[in-house]
Amino acid sequence: MDDAGVDGRRSVGRDDGIASGDDAVDPPAAFRDRAVANDVGVYEAFETEGPDAWRRAADLLDWVSDYDRVLDDGDPPFYEWFTGGTLNAAANCVDRHLDERRNQLAIRWFGKRGERRSYTYLDLHREVNALAAGLRDLGVEEDDVVTLYLPMVPELPIAMLACARIGAPHNVVFAGLSAEALATRIDAADSEYLITCDGYYRREDAFNQKSKADNARLRIDGDLDATVVVDRLGDALDVTLGGDEHGYEAIVDAHDGATVEPVARNATDLLFVMYTSGTTGRPKGVEHATGGYLAHVAWTTRNVLDVRPDDTYWCAADIGWITGHSYGVYGPLATGTTTVLYEGSPDYPDRDRVWDLIERNAVSIFYTSPTAIRSFMKWGAEYPDSHDLSSLRLLGTVGESITPKAWRWYREHVGGGDAPIVDTWWQTETGAIALATLPGVSPMKPGKVGPPLPGIDARVVDEDGEPVDPGEPGFLTIASPWPGMLRGLREGDERYRREYWLEAEDGWRYRTGDGATVDEDGYVTILGRVDDVINVRAHRFNTGKLESVIVGADGVTEAAVVGDDGGKIVAYVTTRSGIEPDAALRETIGERLAASVGDVARPDRIVFTPELPKTRSGKIMRRLLEDIARGDEFGDISALRNPEVVGEIESAVRNG
Ligand code: WT7
Repeated sequence: MDDAGVDGRRSVGRDDGIASGDDAVDPPAAFRDRAVANDVGVYEAFETEGPDAWRRAADLLDWVSDYDRVLDDGDPPFYEWFTGGTLNAAANCVDRHLDERRNQLAIRWFGKRGERRSYTYLDLHREVNALAAGLRDLGVEEDDVVTLYLPMVPELPIAMLACARIGAPHNVVFAGLSAEALATRIDAADSEYLITCDGYYRREDAFNQKSKADNARLRIDGDLDATVVVDRLGDALDVTLGGDEHGYEAIVDAHDGATVEPVARNATDLLFVMYTSGTTGRPKGVEHATGGYLAHVAWTTRNVLDVRPDDTYWCAADIGWITGHSYGVYGPLATGTTTVLYEGSPDYPDRDRVWDLIERNAVSIFYTSPTAIRSFMKWGAEYPDSHDLSSLRLLGTVGESITPKAWRWYREHVGGGDAPIVDTWWQTETGAIALATLPGVSPMKPGKVGPPLPGIDARVVDEDGEPVDPGEPGFLTIASPWPGMLRGLREGDERYRREYWLEAEDGWRYRTGDGATVDEDGYVTILGRVDDVINVRAHRFNTGKLESVIVGADGVTEAAVVGDDGGKIVAYVTTRSGIEPDAALRETIGERLAASVGDVARPDRIVFTPELPKTRSGKIMRRLLEDIARGDEFGDISALRNPEVVGEIESAVRNG
């Protein structure tokens, strides 16, 4: 590709234009020149070759035996990728790097109390093997699901890799979720093994994770065959282990030096399951297959996040969610880079913690969420500005829409004014990034995620499945399969089909559940979920589930939960007549949510109101409640049966 801007501008979804909107920002020439993806031809390659073009992604992996077909689409929507091929995910993330970079750091860990631990690829190999051997001794066999309930400690990625090594799918449950949530996920995944820890630090306090795990164990249907307990807190918290409970350190010591042959898994075999909120109350167990998932994750780690082995890369997401799986563990380690793992919070001990870590470790690529960026903005530019962040080459964001204002702040104060930003759209179900600019190829547009990646047939359509006009709102759908896609749901084929797929005249459509618009250049703007799910704090909550927990509190009649634009959870609650809402009731509601979902689900605000705004057909007008929470102007409320409550709710919100 010769000259900058124009050739690099790429129309996607339309053949007749270039990204010419005056909001377009070109990738900096210096970045483009050495970007992993810097040739617009990659889009054409995917267009002409079809799904076969995804060979490029598979080529980034080591296969035990080659696949026969890139895509088997014989029984839609049950698509299979790289069929006939076998591989091992852990061998791809660890073993194959030993020749070239055994002494390079794989993981740099920073603990909450200022502790540090580093693992070279060789160290990682040693510990993954030891744990894999230990898990086998405990009886874990290929295809047994192992539940991991750990905070951001190195033992979490190590346990994931140890499971992958022996072909045991992992089921990571975010450490902040409650005992009840853990129990549901152990049962739903038919898991008989658990790896957890004694506890972890929350701010100044030692928090007992093991007692949550014990509680979960009392609630599950069956029983666990074995539990492994990491000693995170040492003397700060003593836990007594029962007969079928084993200390992680003892297991690893006992098997130190052991080697376990990585199990050759079919590309279509389960690598892991990850639970996420669905449109009904019960969480859905999203299943990811070994070959397609790892290939897609590796390809996007390089081509979208531009990660190379000599980078120091930091994805700030918790490994308990999909972002941490794909871009905190599998993507960077498959790429052979050095990845930062940070246990603490961004404002402890001070609000410059993140910038301090980036400066000291010369982090070159940083991937975080708009929620975090909003906090950084609120705390003030003086924190990043007082650090040398010139090591940063590229910034990423994921999880929700970023406003143009936050985008510019991020670029200015973190990216030194010129680092490219990739706004990456994807989901637990897509496994890997599906929409984003290629930072060395396509211009960026602040506030818009960008075009679909090469090979992703994303379309914004109306109720009849017809593409909408530029600027018109519609539903984001994907019209052909992609390698990182979920292979199914734990709950079965029927639920999978019903939950995600529509059969159109010309084929099957994957429904993302997101509303979106698309501009003349094919750039997509995400409007938010169209179902009863909210995305806050990097977690997808089912509002119906939260509401039913609130309504279970004594004296509460109705509840509506929305997310505001500060990433906060706002609960609107009505009480039975005669019940005066007070601090005790607020406390009860918070406690109930913490117990049944986890601390992450505690509302930031509880607004008591005499009534909820309802349409004539009795539906709660959620959009209006969101607008009020955000302090936005609200649109047409003529469909309301009780418009008089709007003023009352607004004043309740304003007066806290
Ligand atoms: C939902 C998926 C995999 C990322 C972490 C969340 C929203 C994700 C963006 C973005 C606007 C985004 C969507 C999506 N979302 N990325 N760049 N811009 N919205 O994973 O919990 O499975 O949630 O997050 O609504 O459907 P998840």
